[in-house]
Amino acid sequence: MPKREDHYYVTTPIYYVNAAAHIGHAYTSIAADIMARFQRLLGKQVNFLTGTDEHGQKIARAAEAKGVGPQTFVDEISEGFRDLHKVLNASNTDFIRTSEPRHIAGAQKFWEVANASGDIYKKSYEGLYCVGCEQYFVEKDLIDGLCPIHKKAPEMLSEENYFFRLSRYTEPLKKYFDEHPQFVFPQNRQKEMRQILEEGLDDISISRSTEKLSWGIPVPGDDSQVMYVWFDALTNYVTAIGYGTDEKFFGDWWPADAHVMAKEINRFHSLLWPAMLMSAKLEVPKQIVVHGWLTVDGEKMSKSLGNVVNPYDIVSRYGIDAFRFFMFREMSFGSDGDFSYTKLDQRYRADLSNDLGNLLMRTIAMTHKFCEGRVPLETKGEHQEFWDRYSAHMNAWEFQKALEVVWDYVRGLNQLIDREKPWTANKEGRTEDVARTLYTLLEGLRQIAIAIQPFMPETSEKMLRQLGFEFFEPNFSNLVEWGLLKSGAELAQPEALFPHIE
Ligand code: MSP
Repeated sequence: MPKREDHYYVTTPIYYVNAAAHIGHAYTSIAADIMARFQRLLGKQVNFLTGTDEHGQKIARAAEAKGVGPQTFVDEISEGFRDLHKVLNASNTDFIRTSEPRHIAGAQKFWEVANASGDIYKKSYEGLYCVGCEQYFVEKDLIDGLCPIHKKAPEMLSEENYFFRLSRYTEPLKKYFDEHPQFVFPQNRQKEMRQILEEGLDDISISRSTEKLSWGIPVPGDDSQVMYVWFDALTNYVTAIGYGTDEKFFGDWWPADAHVMAKEINRFHSLLWPAMLMSAKLEVPKQIVVHGWLTVDGEKMSKSLGNVVNPYDIVSRYGIDAFRFFMFREMSFGSDGDFSYTKLDQRYRADLSNDLGNLLMRTIAMTHKFCEGRVPLETKGEHQEFWDRYSAHMNAWEFQKALEVVWDYVRGLNQLIDREKPWTANKEGRTEDVARTLYTLLEGLRQIAIAIQPFMPETSEKMLRQLGFEFFEPNFSNLVEWGLLKSGAELAQPEALFPHIE
C-alpha cells in the first residue's frame, strides 16, 4: 500500500536524555509543530512524532555519574521532555522512547533486513570516538585534536564490531541527491552533503561490545554486542509508525514528509539514514529540514557559562505564544539565530502588544461604540494574494517571511484606521464609511487570526472568540474565504491579547 495522499508525517530528532531540555530543543519542536499545524489547516491528517533517545555511552555515563541505574535515570529525564512538549503546546501525536518494546522490536527487524541485504559484516577496528557526539572521528575532522562540537579529545576505542556497508551507498545517494535537488533544506546544507558524497563514504561501525557498553539494544543473533546508538536511534522514525509491529499503519504513513533538526546531525539524517533505508528496501524521506544553532546573547549555550535558557522561565513570564512567535519572527529558520530577553521584550511590546493587540482592541472597542457591538454590513474584499504569499512561504519552511506577510497586513489595517478615522466619520454621520472600515478591520483580523494559528494557537482562538467567530475547525478551505464574519453577529468585550509586562 502506498502512503496515503492526505497524510503528513513530520518528526523532530529524538532528544538525548543525558541532561534536561532547554530552548534549543524547544526551538526544533516548535518548528515541527508549526508545520504540523499548518498541514492540518491544509486539511491533512498529521502524524507528528517526537521522543527521547535513551541508549549509548553518553547516557550510561550520565546515569553512572548520578549513581542511579540507567533505566531509572532515563525515565525521569524522558518525562521532562514529555512535559516540555505540553508546555510548548506542541501538538505531537506520538512520543517515542527508544527503550520501548515497539522500538526495540522494530530496530532489531531493521538490523535483520539490512543484514539480509548483505550490508552488515564484522571486523576489528580502532578509532577515535567522541562520546558527546556518539560518533567516530578521523584525524582530519578534528580541530587541534579536539572534537569540533564538544571541544574535547576523543577516546581511542578498539574492538571487534559489526560494520554497515555505507560505502556501497555513495553512488546511489549521489544519484538520489541529483534527482532530488530539494531533498535537504536549505540549499547550502544540500550542497554540503553533496560535497561529502563527492569525497566518498566509509563503512561505519554499528555495534559495541557489551563488555564496554551494555546499555543498548542487543544485536539480533549476537548477545555479546549492542547496536550503535545512532543505528538504533534513526530507526525510531519507522518503529514509531509500526515498522516490525504494525505493517498496515506503517504503510499509511511512510515515507516521512519531513525530518526536522539542527545542522550538527544533518549528516546522520541526509546520508546515513537514507543509506540504511535503501539497505532495508524502504523509501527515503521526502525532506530533511535543517535549522541553525541558537546562541544566547551571542554565546553558545553551556552549563559552564551558566547561560542555558530554561524554556519554562520564558513561558511563565511571556506566555507560550509570545515565545513561539518570537523564535520564528526574529530568526530566519535555517540560519543560526540568537536569543536574548532584550529582543524578546522588544518584539513582545512592538509586534504583539502594539501592532496586533492594540489593533484588535481598538477595532472591537470602535465596533461597540459605533455599531452597538455588532458586525456591520459585509463589505467585499480580495485576499487571495495574501494567502498565496503566506502559503508559499509556509510550504517552503520560510516562517519568518510568512510572519512578515502577516505583519504587513496587520500594519496595513492599523494604517487604515489612521487614514479613515472612523470616530470623525461617525461624528459627521457618515455611517456607511464607518461600517465599511469596521467590516474590513474585523474580517481582516479574522483572516489574521487564522494565519497565525500555526504559530500562536491560543492567541488565534482568543481573537476568533472576541470577534464572535465561534466556529473553529482548523481547515483553510472553510476559513480563508472573505466575508465569513456575518453582519449582525455580536462581538465579545475586548480583552488584551498581550498585557503589559513589568
Ligand atoms: N539523540 C540525537 C538525535 C537522534 S535523532 C535520530 C541528538 N540529541 S540531542 O538531544 O543532542 O538533540 C539535538 C537536537 O536538539 C539538535 O539537532 C536540534 O534539533 C536541537 N538543539 C539542541 N540544542 C540546540 C541549539 N543550541 N540550537 C538549535 N537547536 C538545538 O542529537
